[in-house]
Amino acid sequence: MVLNDCKIIELPQVHDPRGNLTFIEAGRHLPFEIKRVYYLYDVPGGSTRAGHGHKNLQQLVIAMSGSFDIELDDGYTKQKFHLNRSHYGLYICPKIWRLMDNFSSGSVCMVLASDYYDESDYYRYYKDFLRAVRPEKVHE
Ligand code: TYD
Repeated sequence: MVLNDCKIIELPQVHDPRGNLTFIEAGRHLPFEIKRVYYLYDVPGGSTRAGHGHKNLQQLVIAMSGSFDIELDDGYTKQKFHLNRSHYGLYICPKIWRLMDNFSSGSVCMVLASDYYDESDYYRYYKDFLRAVRPEKVHE
């Protein structure tokens, strides 16, 4: 099951009374080299983000502030994760449909990605995603 390859990664923490510190080293804490970083912020209450899949992109999603939910779907199984700590990241492998919602007020979602933005790497429609991962399920 592809979904089994997606997992929560615990990042190193340096505890300090002055404030904690977490670091991420490409190729060490992640199974990919980081080519892009982006973040979602000022997300209005009730918003849903993502709602797409990627053909080849790998990502690590971190709740830098606040919390939100991510539902992952490999075409067979769905699994929901609640992210609320900045020293945990959710690794998302290729060919996973994802939906993000339940953003807390002021939350910031940072994503480390294995490649540059490329619209042709997206599955924008669930049917196209399903056709790629589970063709027997799609009836035209
Ligand atoms: P998208 O990935 O579709 O976000 P969501 O599915 O949550 O709505 O991105 C939204 C828009 O931002 C889309 O028009 C493409 C653009 N975009 C970039 O230009 N670069 C990026 O790195 C990302 C992630 C998105």
